[in-house]
Amino acid sequence: MLKGKLITLGVTGSIAAYKAAELASLLSKAGADVHVIMTAGAQKFVAPATFAALTGNPVQTDLFAGTDGPGGAGGPLLPHIELAKADLLVVAPATANILAKAAHGLADDLLSAAILAAPGPVLFCPAMNVHMYRNPATQANLAALKKYGRHVLEPGKGRLACGETGEGRLPEPPEIVAEIARLLGPAKDLQGLFVLVTAGGTREPLDPVRFLSNRSSGKMGYALAAAAAARGADVTLVTAPTALPVPAGVKAVLVETAQQMLEAVREHFPRADVVIKAAAVADYRPARAAEQKIKKEGETLVIELVKNPDILAELGRHKKPGQVLVGFAAETENLLANARRKLEEKNVDLLVANDVTRPGAGFGADTNLVKLIYRDGRVVDLPLMKKTELAHRILDAAHALRG
Ligand code: CTP
Repeated sequence: MLKGKLITLGVTGSIAAYKAAELASLLSKAGADVHVIMTAGAQKFVAPATFAALTGNPVQTDLFAGTDGPGGAGGPLLPHIELAKADLLVVAPATANILAKAAHGLADDLLSAAILAAPGPVLFCPAMNVHMYRNPATQANLAALKKYGRHVLEPGKGRLACGETGEGRLPEPPEIVAEIARLLGPAKDLQGLFVLVTAGGTREPLDPVRFLSNRSSGKMGYALAAAAAARGADVTLVTAPTALPVPAGVKAVLVETAQQMLEAVREHFPRADVVIKAAAVADYRPARAAEQKIKKEGETLVIELVKNPDILAELGRHKKPGQVLVGFAAETENLLANARRKLEEKNVDLLVANDVTRPGAGFGADTNLVKLIYRDGRVVDLPLMKKTELAHRILDAAHALRG
């Protein structure tokens, strides 16, 4: 996720400056190109050579280092502008002083000038004495920075280097790395792929005002479409009615019945690299949809149902080498046996099986609890997680199957 990213790391004069060395090391190991700016205060705690060795890049400390001109003794002519152009600028640890300067637009040293000049995301990781942190001036500065669109990773609570206890601890470096990865967004690893997703519960009309349907909310399918688009894929979402907005960057095809879903899917299937059938397709539909509203006449009403086409099974029959087909299996009993049978019968590459009777799993919930079942017999038991996160796991698995 951080591979090839240009990250400027600002280190200021807090006792936690030593933790910035681990942060620089983690970022470099993750493949980022890390350029460190140290304030004068930071250099009282850690030597620039430490960061130069960990990142493989020279450490910058001087706003005027480049006044000799390009190629001169000091390097770039405008180091603060060059360093500000990173994919992300992180200040860790951030002292009360740098927060105050950044909140007021001061630019009297290299780091504060780079922060002011940064067009992209800037993340502050405050670390200081608890009273300095709680001081209304510091709190006002943090609020101002957030208002200006800068990001703040709140400090942890605990025993501080000054001997006091409270908030002010720099979050652990892996936590900072996770926040940086979140801010930079997912890698565009699905660029160039066409991903077809189906979602929602189909509606099978009984008469002009009534239909048969199911409890599907569409959340899983929409999360998959959103995640694939965020990762750079070209995404078409064939969706039965839901209460959800179409995710950014996704082309939606609105359908109601299983038959309409089949036709829309058929149209897009030939160019699909990955197809994910998260829709809850009605297995049966009323044999006839009455033209007029059915009147309340007899004591009982018998509705004849006929079988709907199985869309996934049809795709399985026409699948070409290189196309990855992902199905879902919603079960209330014998999860593994039923899911394995569906995987075989429908010729899918990956089946996402959930026991919809388990708390937090299945229809309507924001979370899901699933097993990923592969053709080679592998079963991956995933823990309960948000559907938005599960969407990425399913895409990871489908992407890996493409080789
Ligand atoms: N599916 C489909 N067309 C249908 C029924 C299901 O494409 N007419 C797809 C679903 O989108 C899902 C998978 O098949 O990806 C499994 O759906 P599920 O309802 O669990 O299984 P069914 O095949 O309908 O089997 P059963 O109802 O007997 O459990």
